[in-house]
This record gives sequence, C-alpha cells and structure tokens, in this order.
Amino acid sequence: MKVTFYGIGYVGLVQAAVLADAGHDVCCVDIDQNKIDNLKKGIIPIYEPGLTPIVEDNYASGRLHFTTDAEFGVNFGELQFIAVGTPPDEDGSADLKYVLKVAETIAMHMTTSKIVVDKSTVPVGTADKVSAQIEQVLNTRFDSGKAPTFSVVSNPEFLKEGSAVSDCKRPDRIVIGTDSSDAEDLMRELYAPFNRNHEKIIVMDIKSAELTKYAANCMLATKISFMNEMANIAELVGADIENVRHGIGSDPRIGYQFIYPGCGYGGSCFPKDVQALVQTADGIGYESQILKAVEAVNFRQKHKLFEYISKHFGLSENPNAIKGKTFALWGLSFKPNTDDMRAASSLVLMEALWKAGAKVQAYDPEAMEETQRVCGNRADLTLMGTKESALKGADALVICTEWQNFRAPDFGLIKESLSNSVIFDGRNMFEPLRMKKKGFDYYCIGRAL
Ligand code: UGA
Repeated sequence: MKVTFYGIGYVGLVQAAVLADAGHDVCCVDIDQNKIDNLKKGIIPIYEPGLTPIVEDNYASGRLHFTTDAEFGVNFGELQFIAVGTPPDEDGSADLKYVLKVAETIAMHMTTSKIVVDKSTVPVGTADKVSAQIEQVLNTRFDSGKAPTFSVVSNPEFLKEGSAVSDCKRPDRIVIGTDSSDAEDLMRELYAPFNRNHEKIIVMDIKSAELTKYAANCMLATKISFMNEMANIAELVGADIENVRHGIGSDPRIGYQFIYPGCGYGGSCFPKDVQALVQTADGIGYESQILKAVEAVNFRQKHKLFEYISKHFGLSENPNAIKGKTFALWGLSFKPNTDDMRAASSLVLMEALWKAGAKVQAYDPEAMEETQRVCGNRADLTLMGTKESALKGADALVICTEWQNFRAPDFGLIKESLSNSVIFDGRNMFEPLRMKKKGFDYYCIGRAL
C-alpha cells in the first residue's frame, strides 16, 4: 500500500520505517530540510536501537522516501498519517497547530479520496477538528459535491522509546478509531503483517480511540506516582519499598510492570499527556483529582535527590554548604536506551545544584550531545567521556538514570575518587546493606537501612 507520513520524529520515523520494512511503500514528509537531507544520507536524528538498519535498507530499496515536498506526499499515499508534534500550550493543553496545518496542507493538494490518520497523541475531539479543517479548505477549492472524499481515523501509537522498533513490529494492540467501514478495511490491510498469531486490532469509535491513548499513559503514570508515594511512606515508617514491590507485584491484578519507584517519570509523553488530560477534563467542567495528584507527586519526586543532598550536606543550616562542590552525575536521559532529555529528572537536579552554587560533572552513554544542546556551554557543567572520569575530583555521586552499564561499577574506584563516600541513587540500583558494608552513605528511594 502507498502511505504518507507527515512529521518524521520518533513516532513518524519508526512507524514509517517499520511499515516500509513490512513491504509498504512509504513517503516521509517533514518541513526540516536538514533532517530530510540527513536521512537520505543515512544520518538518523534520534538514537533508537534497530532503527538505522531498517531506515537504510528500505531507503536503498526504494520503499522509503524522504521529502519536504508536501504536495508530492499528498499525491503519494492513499493513507495520510499525521505524526507531527503536539507540544503543550502554556496551560498544559496539547497545541494542535501543527496537526491542523498538516490537515490544511492535505486538503490544499488532494485530488483523489484520502484516509487521514491521526497518529500524533491528540485530545478527544481532534479528529472532528481535522475533518472540519479539511472540509473548510476543500469547500474553497471545489464546487459543492465535487470535492474528493476523505475520512479521518484515530490510530494512536503505544511504542516506547528505546524499544520503539520492536514495539512497532510486535504491537500488543492496534487501536483503530473510525466510523467508516472503507477506512477500517484499508487500516486492516495496512496492519495485516503485524496482526499475526492472534487478533490485535481493536476497532472502536473515534473518540474512544483518542481517549484510549491518554487513558493508557495516565494509568501508567499513575502507577509510578502511586509507587513513589508508597516509597516515601515506606521511608518514613522504616519499611523497604523493594519488599513491598515484590509483595504487591506478585498479585497478577497489580503486576510487576511499572511499579519501580524512582526520581520521577519524564519523557515527551507522560508529563505532557497527564497535563493535557487534566486540561481536557477542566475544559468540560470536570476536575481530575487523581491526575492532578499524579502530577504533583511526580513534581515532588523529581526534587527528591536534591532533598537528600540538602539533608546530607546540611543545606538548611548553611545555605552555602554545597557552594563550589562538584557532583558526579551518572545518567542524563529520561530513561535508559534513549538520548532523549525531555522532562528528564537530571535536568531538575542539575538546576537545583547550580542554583545552590554547585558544579556538575556528568556522563551518559547516549545523551551527551543532547545535554550539550539542551544545557549549552556553562562553567558549572562539564561533560565527561566515561562514568569513571565523571568521578574524578567530585564530592559525591548522583545517579538519575538506570543504564545497564552503571549496575556493576568499580566501587573501590568510586570511593577513591570522591571526597565524600556518598551516593545519591534515584533508581535504586544497589543493595543498601551492601553499600553500607562498603562504607558508603547511600541514599536511595524508599529503602530503609
Ligand atoms: C510511554 C509509554 O510507556 C508508551 O506506551 C507510549 O506509547 C509512549 O509513552 C507515548 O505516548 O508515545 P516512553 O515515554 O517511551 O513511553 O517511556 P516509558 O518507558 O513509559 O517511561 C516513562 C518514564 O517513567 C521514564 O522516566 C521512566 O524512568 C519512568 N518509570 C517507568 C518509572 O519511574 N518507573 C517505572 O516503573 C516505569
């Protein structure tokens, strides 16, 4: 089938490449000429395991096309996927300007029937707005009854950064929101290569599909904030959240996934989607008490490591207690296996350290360039080439992301390198008792010592 994608970010590029890999003919349109030029040269704008070879192979075999020419894209695909960003507005609601711009572009150039698919995470009611936008432009181009037909489908994406390619190749569900049986048929044909072994396609009305996406992310964010709240309570009552996690995860109704406490969730999805659903609810006169609490707990949790640092160094008694001190920081991306820094807990921590006059020596296996881009050049941040060099001359170690490569460090070297034997671990990487035996002051999340 011939498919066009608008917006070649995480979702668009991964889904386009995976569809091309399955044999479809896919055209990727983006307004960023530099990005398109680089993709043609095999330079992939994001770090995502397994993505580079499928982009290169399918571009070489002519099943994947890259262009900034929107008119070409409109004429190319019978299915037109909108996968552009929906950044939060000042009030947290999703800004639809890029989505509606693509709808307008499609309507400006279409000469035959099109199925327009909302792949971006968009609030309930967006498909109606996309339809209205297309309708409005078509009305200016064609006499009444002469315009080509179109149908808008909601097809939310559930991939996770770091495992996006395999999530896309082996989806656990494919949600299709549509009120058109023709559109449903085409979507079923498109996804047939991924709908093997058992039925994964779930067809529903458009608004339910739009809400499904938010409900999924908000549920997952709720699980995390709930566990972080339990961890904070565990700490205060002298319990160990790791025991509690095992104790509750063994109940299949709760499950082991997404109940890891830590220094808060980040990324481009959870913070934005929780806020957007709060806004959607507010907009229709409903106050989402749970989601507001999920957000508030996460905000507090992102300051947790700095709270420990304040406590350890006695910042409340002496506001200059960490002024001039250097903190080694391991892990900058919002989670392992990505270079994405959006809403990363490391950013909140660094800001707090800088504000208190401290310096940071940071290392991340993938997010160094991104950190440089996000933070710029500053005297109080030094990016180091290895986790070991980040320790040199530092006063303490802080861990924000649980990269595999941090799990078995040379503790002897850590001790030798730091002026204080103290580790602030936002991802519970080590056993508190072992750390104590090794002579470390070890702060982690919700674990009694
Ligand atoms: C999330 C969802 O998991 C995907 O299903 C969804 O498709 C995607 O958003 C999206 O809307 O596009 P992603 O943002 O890649 O995927 O990241 P997650 O793996 O969900 O992690 C989010 C954050 O939660 C990370 O900061 C992670 O460290 C944190 N987390 C996760 C915890 O603190 N504890 C956990 O138990 C799990």
